[in-house]
Amino acid sequence: MLGLATPRQLAKAGIVGMNRRNVELIAQNNPRHLYPLVDDKLQTKKLAEENGLDTPALIGVVRLTGQIKEVHDFLKPHPQFVIKPARGSGGKGILVISGREGDDYVKPSGSLIGFEAVARHINNTLSGLYSLGGKPDVAMIETMVDFDPIFDRFTFEGVPDIRVIVYKGFPVMAMTRLSTAASDGKANLHQGAVGVGLDIATGKALRAVQNGTPITQHPDTGANLAEINVPHWENLVRLSARCQAASGLGYLGADIVLDKSEGPLVLELNARPGLAIQIANGTGMAGRIDRVEQLIARDNPPEDAVWRANWSMKHLAAI
Ligand SMILES: Nc1ncnc2c1ncn2[C@@H]1O[C@H](COP(=O)(O)OP(=O)(O)O)[C@@H](O)[C@H]1O
Ligand SMILES: [Mg+2]
Repeated sequence: MLGLATPRQLAKAGIVGMNRRNVELIAQNNPRHLYPLVDDKLQTKKLAEENGLDTPALIGVVRLTGQIKEVHDFLKPHPQFVIKPARGSGGKGILVISGREGDDYVKPSGSLIGFEAVARHINNTLSGLYSLGGKPDVAMIETMVDFDPIFDRFTFEGVPDIRVIVYKGFPVMAMTRLSTAASDGKANLHQGAVGVGLDIATGKALRAVQNGTPITQHPDTGANLAEINVPHWENLVRLSARCQAASGLGYLGADIVLDKSEGPLVLELNARPGLAIQIANGTGMAGRIDRVEQLIARDNPPEDAVWRANWSMKHLAAI
């Protein structure tokens, strides 16, 4: 049982612990001056656009409380959208609107809210209620991702995302996060989403956990999680490596979603990705990081993101 093991036993199983993550992976590979690029989702969007990385389109930004009253009319041409704090994390403050009924806004659960509730949400966002350090923020409005129907059975009222950990340009580990009734349309593990480890070579499910406990079926839909096989896998892994090249962060968590018509889109980038992905994969990533280090020391491999992604898919799955 991973949960009962001592730190020494975990290290033997190749699990990267908090200490190595903070002291080695993050501090040595992620220069602080790059944090704002990924801690601020508006900057990340700009970075993605400048580097030709596909991302959900930005509809608008609300910066001042005085602008809130204009939002209802402004959003009329956009039946589906998502409002989020530019400096939010962990799924906090994300409001997903999947349609309209008259003047009301429809949430993915089917419940209706009026514009006052949307306005209140934006106001709270501007005041920093959901943001890093509680500091005043701006509210981003972007298009809602219409996720690939392949995930229909595996998610409950929300868009699943795929987290890929990229180390020095090499994608080393992946999982998909599936929203549940508990996570309210968001695919964040701390909100109660399911994490499913994915084979880095193929995108096939390996193992699933919810709140740290192994599960085999989606808690709300009952679907067999072992059947997940993420389409567009090679492009998705390559996109994660290209995110690394664009951001300059040597240890990165790329969150990617699969849009029905647009394919893999970058949702956000993380400079301090968590370690739960190892639990979802049932294995640690230390061995893979060591393999990458050996390759770099021995062969001076090309910097090219696609080359590195292809190497990972070929060599890291079985480690
Ligand atoms: N444009 C979008 N369309 C649909 N769902 C979204 C969108 N943006 C975010 N979500 C949902 O909210 C979750 C968290 O969004 P994300 O942008 O990763 O912010 P956070 O930093 O809070 O994790 C996503 O995993 C997804 O389930
Ligand atoms: Mg996220």
